[in-house]
Amino acid sequence: MPAISASAPAKGILFGEHAVVYGYPAIAVPVHQVSARAVVTPWIKGASGKIHIDAPQVGVDADLERLSQNDPLGAAVRGALNALGIQQPPAFKLRITSTIPLAAGLGSGAAVSVAIVRAVSAFLGSPSSDEQVSALAFEVEKLHHGTPSGIDNTVVTYGEPVYFVKDEAIQTFQVNKPFTLLIADTGIPSPTRIAVGDVRAGFQQEPERYKKIFEDIGDIAEKARKTIETGSNEALGELMDQNHSLLEKLGVSSPELDKLVSAAKQAGAKGAKLSGAGRGGNMIALAEEKQAEVKVALLAAGAKGVIQTVVQ
Ligand code: MEV
Repeated sequence: MPAISASAPAKGILFGEHAVVYGYPAIAVPVHQVSARAVVTPWIKGASGKIHIDAPQVGVDADLERLSQNDPLGAAVRGALNALGIQQPPAFKLRITSTIPLAAGLGSGAAVSVAIVRAVSAFLGSPSSDEQVSALAFEVEKLHHGTPSGIDNTVVTYGEPVYFVKDEAIQTFQVNKPFTLLIADTGIPSPTRIAVGDVRAGFQQEPERYKKIFEDIGDIAEKARKTIETGSNEALGELMDQNHSLLEKLGVSSPELDKLVSAAKQAGAKGAKLSGAGRGGNMIALAEEKQAEVKVALLAAGAKGVIQTVVQ
């Protein structure tokens, strides 16, 4: 059996984070500049059924049986084996590496799960379909995030822009005119589970106020889809600004994110907003022109890194 590798990109949420957990639409895009990779090699001397997992960036170097049921890496491997009905696979070693910043709103957990499921299922001779890969990665997302919407595993699996509504079939759409995003990292890790949990607590306390904000965010995502389909990219910036203000009202922005958003706008970005769960993590800026200036401004305002990507 030859070695098999698989990879999956990061993701950025353009519109609709948090509201998407409550059934409103959201738009996400793959970010191919960074990715997670899983490599499976046969373990010639390993006893049948033995699996070794090595993920240096998260300090894992252990046999599968040593990882708890809640360990996301172990869960992705077990999910892939169970889906194939294989209990005693030929021994193999799995190495996982990633260039996606962790807990930064870029979907690193989902990308790692997708890469693992793809590599393990291909190694065992039955490559999983995208639908199966996404469903298995969703199960692992629940360990990471508690009540995920499923948007991260979906966009990361399919690797193209998606218009996503929870529990509905994936919808892809045409990007009429490609546009450039700059994605800037606050460097502050922000576990999605916590931000999502806080929004839920707020919603439980003030259901009417939160529902109105979710509805407004959903309307923006719907308008944004039409805007992208018709290529009116100017209008996209305004929608991003509106979406950011609503996320501030949900309490998921932070001084660092707001600082990056204002810096990007002042330097010429057409729109900017936090992206993902918020609090820390990343923000995105629509930089059709003045990309170099916006990048310099973001770094000067404290960004720990800036990724440039074209949505097409
Ligand atoms: C996280 O990338 C996006 C959130 O809306 C959570 C989710 O959709 O599961 C904050």
